[in-house]
Amino acid sequence: MGRTGITLTRFIIETQAGYPAATGEFSALLAQIGLAGKLIAHDLRRAGLINILGTTGGTNVQGEAVKKLDEIANETFIKVFQYSGLVCALASEEMEKPVQFPENWPHGKYMLLFDPLDGSSNTDVNMPLGAIFSILRYEGKGGLPSAQELVRKGTEQIAAGYLMYGSSTMLVFTSGQGVHGFTLDPGIGEYLLSHENIRMPARGKVYAVNEGNYHKWPAGTRRYVDYLKESDKATGRPYSSRYSGCLAADVHRMLLGGGIYLYPGETDKPEGKLRLLYEANPLAMVVEQAGGGASTGTMRILEVEPKALHQRVPLLIGSAEDVSLAEAFIRGER
Ligand code: AHG
Ligand code: MN
Ligand code: MN
Repeated sequence: MGRTGITLTRFIIETQAGYPAATGEFSALLAQIGLAGKLIAHDLRRAGLINILGTTGGTNVQGEAVKKLDEIANETFIKVFQYSGLVCALASEEMEKPVQFPENWPHGKYMLLFDPLDGSSNTDVNMPLGAIFSILRYEGKGGLPSAQELVRKGTEQIAAGYLMYGSSTMLVFTSGQGVHGFTLDPGIGEYLLSHENIRMPARGKVYAVNEGNYHKWPAGTRRYVDYLKESDKATGRPYSSRYSGCLAADVHRMLLGGGIYLYPGETDKPEGKLRLLYEANPLAMVVEQAGGGASTGTMRILEVEPKALHQRVPLLIGSAEDVSLAEAFIRGER
């Protein structure tokens, strides 16, 4: 049992001494992310009743149709952090450029990058959704960070995690000292520790990928997915296929039970679909901290040198052995 059931706040206070990056401010920052999660979960629970399903009619910087809930979730994060005194700049999937918060400067030394609502195609059909966040520290003395200051390598993240709105609402994060999962108890409105120090199995039995894209994948990716479907008792094949349409939920499954999630590059779109800075990097940090791996197919996600805020990247993420084997197929060794 250990510390199961303690609140997020107490967990952070108790463990703070062991966290190099942790200060009272860092705990406050996580508490604010938790608050955004509560506010969004509250909307999601009633979404079919309060006219917030469907699209806004607009498209975001990625050229994707914006759901009303994408916008609501984005505004919720902004509101929660605008006068927090904690964050000097934030960037989101839903905004072309980062937002600076002069009202929090020079006190607020954190920068936040996030996907405010992950799995938007699930909004109208009552399926799981999530949010993904990456936290950086800005030491600059020269004033508020420029847009390019937020474009940093994954290894520079000081913390990362996700919220997941499934049958329960969960907050899962790492600040470099293992991965911890908290479940929102809706009766008392608190996140309670439910999954302390999550460790991923080295190998799983499940894969998640949008197989509708099979014919667009390069040969190595196709061969790997074919391999997972062959029958071979010794290597635990065939794997089961589970794909929710929500990256955070699929990665959550792999984190707890092992396996691999793939959003590969495509022949005509080698960079794939997912975004490096606020989808791949934070989940890669979480998964590596739990003993798993995250790769572009040819290199570690966290080592990718980013050039642009909304840059895309192919993503293979999950159990360490599953990810290494997928890389071997992509290199053409199998
Ligand atoms: P978002 O809703 O933030 O745009 O992210 C959707 C992502 C990810 O959550 C999911 O795994 C994937 O895109 C689904 O894409 P396909 O519909 O192409 O499978
Ligand atoms: Mn997403
Ligand atoms: Mn999104």
